[in-house]
Amino acid sequence: MNSSSLLQKISKKMTNIRRLTLYLLFCITLSFITFFLFPRNFFNPISNHNVLYLEPQLNLKDCDLSQGHWIPDERGSLYTNSTCTTIPDSKNCLKHGRQNTDFIFWRWKPKGCDLPRFNPKAFLNLVRGKKMNFIGDSVARNHMESLLCLLSMEETPKDIYKDGEDRNRIWYFPDHDFTLSTSWSKFLVAGFKRTHANKTGTGVYDIDINKIDDQWAKDLPNTDIAIVSAGHWLFRPIYIHRGNETLGCIFCYLPNTTQISLKEGFKLVFSAAFRHINACHSCKSNLVTVLRTLSPSHFENGTWNTGGACGRTIPFSVNEINPQNRGLEIKTSQIEELEEIKRDSLKKKFAVLDVTRTMLMRPDGHPNSYWGNKWMKGFNDCTHWCLPGPIDTWSEFLMVLLKQLM
Ligand SMILES: *[C@@H]1O[C@H](CO)[C@@H](O)[C@H](O)[C@H]1NC(C)=O
Ligand SMILES: *[C@@H]1O[C@H](CO)[C@@H](O)[C@H](O)[C@H]1NC(C)=O
Ligand SMILES: *[C@@H]1O[C@H](CO)[C@@H](O)[C@H](O)[C@H]1NC(C)=O
Ligand SMILES: *[C@@H]1O[C@H](CO)[C@@H](O)[C@H](O)[C@H]1NC(C)=O
Ligand SMILES: *[C@@H]1O[C@H](CO)[C@@H](O)[C@H](O)[C@H]1NC(C)=O
Repeated sequence: MNSSSLLQKISKKMTNIRRLTLYLLFCITLSFITFFLFPRNFFNPISNHNVLYLEPQLNLKDCDLSQGHWIPDERGSLYTNSTCTTIPDSKNCLKHGRQNTDFIFWRWKPKGCDLPRFNPKAFLNLVRGKKMNFIGDSVARNHMESLLCLLSMEETPKDIYKDGEDRNRIWYFPDHDFTLSTSWSKFLVAGFKRTHANKTGTGVYDIDINKIDDQWAKDLPNTDIAIVSAGHWLFRPIYIHRGNETLGCIFCYLPNTTQISLKEGFKLVFSAAFRHINACHSCKSNLVTVLRTLSPSHFENGTWNTGGACGRTIPFSVNEINPQNRGLEIKTSQIEELEEIKRDSLKKKFAVLDVTRTMLMRPDGHPNSYWGNKWMKGFNDCTHWCLPGPIDTWSEFLMVLLKQLM
């Protein structure tokens, strides 16, 4: 082969390469044009949003989600302790030796309708671009952790922020631009622990219903969906103040002190929280507030510090629930306070995620002794809920609510 024929060959090859490059450039340009004109449909010909409309719509007019019973469901939970890597150790009941797994195989059957199984894809599409904040105590965080596991089946969340005590937490789902966070609050309003001269706690608290707890007050303006709950810290001696006026005390039983019932205490606290939200001018005008009602504990044969336990392995039936249960009475007052605000509210939306009765029937869903309680042997957890477990149902309720609100 002489040098000129070699050059000719190379030149021919170069022409081919140039053609190929031009062709590729053309394709890429076309793709970009298509992408910008039809962004979502390009990669995903069936738009994710359609998923929502293919599901049967729940007509809540005929159906009160809080009325119903638990029925066996062999499908079990959407996730396991191996697919969800964010289950906190203290809620990972199976890891800590819980043998009986029956508690996972139930689903809630509301009277008059069917509750759709949680759909992480549909949920993430519904909350695309939003910030959802769980405001409250460790049970509020428990709910957030459950939702995090459910949503992880669709997209792996990014751990964005965690404070020193792991109380305030932020997770982010980049593909859906969805932020999930917790704002820790014991009482929703400002609370102060009374201490002895030697700085140890007395077990008595003071709360001021004129002052909203700092952390969530600070986080609220940046929130689209606020899930508000609290309650477990109110079951102790608490002096309730309104500014410099002392209204009385819950669980003090002192002759010189005005007695406030637990129910009245709940009303004062939740009313203060809802009034703050409704009056919040720096908040988004379309802020959605969801009251998650009291989550009942199930200590039997004692209280949390006197050896009480929750060793049952199946749910209660409707007949086993006492209609005079204190938890039901409390949730009624929580809902009354919300309804009161709803009447005054112009633009902001308020809704109720009523879990109290549903969860009263689940004495089998708590960690009990299976929470890795190295430091507190003999203390059982009958307040929080195992993950996976019946608390996952709360997000199914939430999905139904959000579909109607957003
Ligand atoms: C998951 O649960 C099983 C028991 O079902 C347990 O043996 C295992 O250690 C747990 N795994 C994790 C990662 O927690
Ligand atoms: C602190 O003071 C209280 C009340 O005087 C007492 O009951 C308690 O034992 C003390 N605790 C410690 C650790 O000294
Ligand atoms: C209570 O607070 C109000 C308003 O903050 C103030 O005007 C009043 O003087 C206070 N009363 C007492 C007894 O401190
Ligand atoms: C009520 O009386 C008890 C003892 O009689 C006293 O220790 C306590 O400080 C009093 N409480 C208030 C709020 O005045
Ligand atoms: C409570 O005590 C009774 C009688 O000892 C026992 O049968 C029952 O299992 C206990 N309940 C729980 C939840 O441990």
